[in-house]
Amino acid sequence: MFRTPRPRRSHRALGALAVSVTAAAVAAAGLLPADQAGAAAGSLRSLAEAKGIYFGTAIGQGDLDNTALTTVAGTQFGMLTPTNEMKWDSVEPSPGSFDFGPGDRIVAFGQAHSMKLRGHTLVWHNQLPSWVDKLPASQVQTAMRNHITTTATHYKGKLYAWDVVNELFNENGTFREDAFYRAMGTGYVADALRTARAADPGAKLYLNDYNIEGLNAKSDAMYNLAKSLKSQGVPLDGVGFQAHFVVGQVPSSLKANLERFTALGLEVAVTELDDRMQLPPDSAELAQQGRDYANVVTTCLAVKGCVGLSQWDVGDADSWIPGTFPGEGAGTMYDNNYRPKPAYYASVDALGGSTSNPSPSPTPTTTSTPTSTPTPKPTDGAACKVTAELNTWNTGLTENLTVTNTGSSTVDGWALSFALPGGQTVTGAWNATVGPAAGRLTARNLGYNGTIAPGGSVSFGFQATHTGNAGPAGQFSLNGVVCRAA
Ligand code: G3I
Repeated sequence: MFRTPRPRRSHRALGALAVSVTAAAVAAAGLLPADQAGAAAGSLRSLAEAKGIYFGTAIGQGDLDNTALTTVAGTQFGMLTPTNEMKWDSVEPSPGSFDFGPGDRIVAFGQAHSMKLRGHTLVWHNQLPSWVDKLPASQVQTAMRNHITTTATHYKGKLYAWDVVNELFNENGTFREDAFYRAMGTGYVADALRTARAADPGAKLYLNDYNIEGLNAKSDAMYNLAKSLKSQGVPLDGVGFQAHFVVGQVPSSLKANLERFTALGLEVAVTELDDRMQLPPDSAELAQQGRDYANVVTTCLAVKGCVGLSQWDVGDADSWIPGTFPGEGAGTMYDNNYRPKPAYYASVDALGGSTSNPSPSPTPTTTSTPTSTPTPKPTDGAACKVTAELNTWNTGLTENLTVTNTGSSTVDGWALSFALPGGQTVTGAWNATVGPAAGRLTARNLGYNGTIAPGGSVSFGFQATHTGNAGPAGQFSLNGVVCRAA
């Protein structure tokens, strides 16, 4: 059995931005050593795993050089899917010529962070090299079997699951007439599953598609196929629901739909979650996105047989959405600077990271300084400018501060001292450690953002409660040098 029984938890409505944040969530939001491998205490990952499910994300090999991204991926998520590196055009760009280098790098990152790994994907009409499309029908089955066998054998024992066939249906529920269907008819699906099982008997084998999250013609088609395959003894273990949603449009039949699949003896998973909106995002849409994420998390928790969720990409800056839907985006739980959005806090809350009756604001923002970060010294020639973005609501606020080095020397390790208005108490921070919780505070860099070149800048932020004065922070000094107001 993949997961342990989990406690039942009733879902409660989430307020807009005023989602309560526990100490655990605060820790997860940024008060952590940047180089910590594996689950951070109170992270999405640890909270999900405590409930018997996983919470994953997807990264590509280009993302591995982005320290801010990999820090979030490696501490917040427990499952990893390569965005493109195990697709046919990457793995076997020409007949019989395999390149597992890019996929291996994603696997290595996941293993270094003790993450589950999802193979994506063996058979798909898209990102399929043209040589496959051009094959005579009589040769497609051999090519498909060879591709599956070679790829699944290479990764044998390393992957939790494979998306064996991806996006096989049209919106009206008919089969997509791709090279595989044209050559083998509907039987290619069973053939692909049997071939994958023979190559890696330990991997869970999935069919994966989008727009099958609610009850509709396309999900009916997937259901009927899954039922038929199961009745024939074809090795199908699960169905993946990609869940590329539009804000406010999570189908109300999501739970009922997932449950009809689990009733077939299959596991189900949300495999590519995101929730897009028109750009630029406004606070109402971000709040709705939080409710959407919470809805999906809560639904998975409520469905016995829903083994986990994965977001597609880490932050909004990495997302595929703007490239495919011009003018839309902001679909993930992290903004362009990897600051957690309301959807992050809502997901934490839905995973039981806060209670409906929270104790007074935690103060994990303590004064402790990571031992790995040396205390910066005042730097000759240092000068600074600080700009602030402030979002406020009735009892709380988030403030993002951008610190620019206007001096002539590189700042190597920084501590920004600043004053909070009276009545404000910091409850969480990102991209820096911040403490104490009130009064005069110091924000210190994490492992990945300690250097500010002349003319360069870094951004960090915090969330705070207030008792009426929601004004901005002030009186900034960087490494002991007073900054000028922007
Ligand atoms: O590799 C080429 C590069 O050589 C070239 O210079 C560049 C120019 O545009 O394109 C690069 O290929 C891009 C590829 O991603 C790798 O970066 C393709 O143009 C681009 O279309 C492709 O997009 C991917 C998309 O699948 C393709 O359908 C996205 O990154 C990836 O996130 C997305 O993921 C899919 C899932 O696999 C299936 N479900 C939907 C999901 C989102 O579309």
